[in-house]
Amino acid sequence: MFPVHRGRRLRQNESIRRLVRESHLLVDDLILPLFVTHGRGGKSEIASMPGQYRHTIKTLLKETAEAASLGIPAVILFGIPKIKDEGGSTAIDPEGIVQTAISAIKDQSPNLLVITDVCIDEYTSHGHCGLVQDGKILNDETLAVLAKMALSHVEAGADMVAPSDMMDGRVGAIRKVLDENGHTQTPILSYAVKYASCFYTPFREAAGSAPSLGDRKSYQMDFANSREAIREVAQDIEEGADIVMVKPALPYLDILADIKKRFDVPIAAYQVSGEYSMIMAAAQNGWLDGRNAMLESLIALKRAGADMILTYFAKEAAKQLS
Ligand code: PBG
Repeated sequence: MFPVHRGRRLRQNESIRRLVRESHLLVDDLILPLFVTHGRGGKSEIASMPGQYRHTIKTLLKETAEAASLGIPAVILFGIPKIKDEGGSTAIDPEGIVQTAISAIKDQSPNLLVITDVCIDEYTSHGHCGLVQDGKILNDETLAVLAKMALSHVEAGADMVAPSDMMDGRVGAIRKVLDENGHTQTPILSYAVKYASCFYTPFREAAGSAPSLGDRKSYQMDFANSREAIREVAQDIEEGADIVMVKPALPYLDILADIKKRFDVPIAAYQVSGEYSMIMAAAQNGWLDGRNAMLESLIALKRAGADMILTYFAKEAAKQLS
């Protein structure tokens, strides 16, 4: 009780604050998401994500070399194919955009981990994460496509696969196919808790993947629910997920903290496109200090329990930390 206890004693200078600081952001925590598309020319900026680009292989390699030299351990790749069709067939093409990008990056920076997003929404003409029949998203039929997609990424050299589609049973289906083909050591980072969020809007502009009919609410989670997140994580771990993700990040700190308490696998948080865009927009207007908003939001994710963070700020944060 005051005056015996004075919280301000341990806040009075930066050296004391450093000693008692509970959470730290490290470059080791960061995963950089990157978009890659066909073409020989330069990169094109994503209007709603200032400072983020659709890369060609050529500019992608500059980006990954820089990420590696900053000490960032991993990137996650999203492909934007030339051709989109009903079945998302270019997603499993061994010469597809992501497959080509993986081997180019691994040739150049063998120690940089290449994680791939496994989901067909960027490859389907309708923009859904599953196959569609009579306006319904098919679950079990989609699993075979996802498993083939994951296998094709691993065969191209991917170090880890990250299914983001929210079909039931996909972690098990992918684990089975990888194991049958001798890839028993390839980890699965599951987007276990993925909410049907409006914060993905800038990503969908970047990838041209907004659904042309309906929405994603029949497979992504209702953002009013938290107990459902526990069941999703438990099931994915049972099916063989090595790391589980919560997405989006900042609006879901309660979920992140709860999952950290209940499970003993590493947890990833995805600071998604809309979270990035909000900070960038406010910073460009002079309403917020962008650097401080970035660091505060990333530390908040560490405090809530994230072991690693997927963030479009990865390069900026790495520079600030060095
Ligand atoms: C699906 C996928 C999406 C994101 C990551 N993987 C889009 C979606 O579900 O609509 C969004 C990431 C972001 O907003 O930064 N392939």
